[in-house]
Amino acid sequence: MADRLQAVKGMNDALPPETAKWNFVERRCRAVLESHGYREIRTPLCEYTQLFARSIGEATDIVEKEMYTFDDRDGRSLTLRPEGTAGVVRAYIEHSIAKSEPVSRWYYIGPMYRHERMQKGRYRQFTQVGCEVFGIAEPTIDAELCAMLAALLQDLGVQNVTCYVNSLGRGDDRTAYREALTAYLEGHVEELCEDCRRRLGQSPLRVLDCKVAGCAAVAANAPAILDHLGEASRAHFDGVRRALEALEVRYEVDPHMVRGLDYYTGTIFELRGEGGTLGSQNAICGGGRYDGLVEQLGGPATPAVGFAMGLERLALVVPGEPETFEPGLDVFLAHHGDEARLWALTTAERIRRLGYRADMDHRQSSMKTQLKRADRLHARLVLVAGEQEIAARKVALRDMASGTQREIAADDLDAEIKRSLA
Ligand code: HAM
Repeated sequence: MADRLQAVKGMNDALPPETAKWNFVERRCRAVLESHGYREIRTPLCEYTQLFARSIGEATDIVEKEMYTFDDRDGRSLTLRPEGTAGVVRAYIEHSIAKSEPVSRWYYIGPMYRHERMQKGRYRQFTQVGCEVFGIAEPTIDAELCAMLAALLQDLGVQNVTCYVNSLGRGDDRTAYREALTAYLEGHVEELCEDCRRRLGQSPLRVLDCKVAGCAAVAANAPAILDHLGEASRAHFDGVRRALEALEVRYEVDPHMVRGLDYYTGTIFELRGEGGTLGSQNAICGGGRYDGLVEQLGGPATPAVGFAMGLERLALVVPGEPETFEPGLDVFLAHHGDEARLWALTTAERIRRLGYRADMDHRQSSMKTQLKRADRLHARLVLVAGEQEIAARKVALRDMASGTQREIAADDLDAEIKRSLA
């Protein structure tokens, strides 16, 4: 027997009615982002591998363990994007956007790929909605992003979400912190996992992000980054907090948060769902400042900040059964006999042009089967026509909610439908 064909592990099909809920969530995201002046950018699904190694960081879990990397037919190493920021920054530099606009607000929606251990809310292909803002160094934009996310989640009916913020500092403060952290970690080497021991010299911050229990225990007592911030970083972080308060965003400072990507400088944030549905994968979105990345990848020095949100995780916490997001049918056309089928075919087309959703059964089905189908499709109106009705230029119009049916003249049909669906 032939092998049963299956989707790749960790990469899921989205079927109706699930897709209806997805589309609803995506539409709301687009509406909220566009109301804040974000414009959509679409970048390729894969990039040259180097881009991710140089931006996300060689010593991160993503680059070390999780990328889908392969050689193309020219022998160049390509990687399916594990996140969106790197590609967006590459495009920003490649198209010299800084020359034509001082501030760019971009958003993207699309699949990302990470070869992670799977569990609820964690997949190998997942969808991110993300935003990147280039050209603004002021802390108010960091807070505006958090407020926009909180408003979006509220708009979608998601409850019990808290915004966590921290600052990773930059430049000199980072160097001072790195030294303090390295000294502390070196005193606990025995308790660290092998990966962390190896990464210690190169990237001590990664130890704070390690999920292994022993490392997490060491991280819990590590010196806090916030205690090592220089004046400029501290002032920026205070500015973020003041703006969050002005915007009335409920937030908490999480001094142990570091996030799993190396490009961050200054503010970082995560919105996490509390309780139930998401289990351990409770980060609905995360982001932060990356003021050094554009320059590091060969562009002009440009302050930047952004976030990405996992749509699968979002869909898990948005209330409502998927079916309830499906748009019902406005009109179903039931028919009996060849003439009536042609009438239904052309009339359905005309009704659609009036702006309504219309469907019919093309098969040779009994009237009972057709009415059942109309019911399953949640049709609001059903038009019933047989050969005699067509000959007499009449048709029956049934209102499915009330169950009432009446005969109407074919010539009055458009007006009757408009009146009934108003
Ligand atoms: P990230 O925290 O790696 O950040 O991912 C952002 C969000 O993507 C997470 O909060 C989560 O909702 C979702 N996500 C990540 N991995 C998975 C997975 N395996 N399965 C399902 N959902 C997942 C970034 O990717 C940064 N690029 C965010 C950013 C943009 N920072 C600045 N600009």
